[in-house]
Amino acid sequence: MAGLLKHILVDGYLWIKAFHVIAVVCWFAALFYLPRLFVYHAMTEDQAGRERFKIMERKLYRGIGTPSMIVSVVLGVGMLVTSPDYFLSAGWFHLKMLLVALLIAYHFCCFYFLKQFQADRNTRSHVFYRWFNEAPVLILIGAVIMVVVKPL
Ligand code: HEM
Repeated sequence: MAGLLKHILVDGYLWIKAFHVIAVVCWFAALFYLPRLFVYHAMTEDQAGRERFKIMERKLYRGIGTPSMIVSVVLGVGMLVTSPDYFLSAGWFHLKMLLVALLIAYHFCCFYFLKQFQADRNTRSHVFYRWFNEAPVLILIGAVIMVVVKPL
């Protein structure tokens, strides 16, 4: 009986971790693609083209970005509560959570720009959005090194 329970708990943890990583990949796919749409949207002058980008951006943010953020966080917390003392005392986890907080802030920054574009009130250039597009790459590199290598 004890063996079965251990099997379920360990496997259960690994299933949660697997879907956590899947959700994180989907979240990053949205956070890499949405600012790229902002780049092309900021360069578009015809209204029909702008309307098309508005639909794509809105569906990407609401249909993939936000749901995968929520699943990433819920499953991450699900693993955290299995050993809170261990994780909350680990330097690598603190730095990972700081990077995750930055990523969530970036996500809501995208929401602000999405609303600006929806209302045809964007004032930033495509160059701004090209640089803005790079930020999640740095967060991804930092967070994955922290959680896989655990250097601290
Ligand atoms: C609030 C949000 C998050 C929380 C609470 C969280 C928490 C966790 C926890 C507790 C683990 C298990 C670590 C282990 O078993 O060693 C884990 C694994 C993982 N997390 Fe997160 N995470 C969050 C967001 C993210 C984000 C945004 C990324 C991507 C950059 C990420 C990438 C990973 C990866 C790749 C693993 C698997 C590591 C391994 O197999 O060794 N997590 N996460």
